Amino acid sequence: MASETQKPIPREVLSPERRRFLGRISLVLSAICAVIVGIPVVGFIFGPLIAPEQDVWRAVGAVGNFKAGETVSVSFLDPSPMEWAGVSALTAAWLRRLDSGGFVAFSVNCAHLGCPVRWLPKADLFMCPCHGGVYYADGSVAAGPPPRGLFKYPVRVRNGQVEILASAVPIE
Ligand code: FES
Repeated sequence: MASETQKPIPREVLSPERRRFLGRISLVLSAICAVIVGIPVVGFIFGPLIAPEQDVWRAVGAVGNFKAGETVSVSFLDPSPMEWAGVSALTAAWLRRLDSGGFVAFSVNCAHLGCPVRWLPKADLFMCPCHGGVYYADGSVAAGPPPRGLFKYPVRVRNGQVEILASAVPIE
């Protein structure tokens, strides 16, 4: 038995007004679909950029891991890591255990244009390789273009862990 094929509707059956109406309906439905799909995608991509950044305490190691008088590099997660950031969500600080037992944490970012500074223990100085910025051991400016000292993170000890308050580092 031969199958009956569906015949296309002749153009003259659809009046120009009806075709225009169906075209508009199709456009409106397409726009609604685009909005429904697009809003979550746009929110996912741009949400973290416009949401206010929350300061978060991040553990960087047990108190016993740090020797008095030493300045070491520690890494921790950004205050608001984006889902897709991967290892780039990690940031760092220079952490010093004071002889008194307390801790001080300096941003690794130079206060001039944000280059990572290095701690030189023999010179007792932080040096910036970009434009020659130099900082004393307490983070204050010793030489070069930095307009102010290194940013200091608040530090606390909780349950035997040293914690740094991860927050946005102000850069000029
Ligand atoms: S970025 Fe450090 S001195 Fe310019």
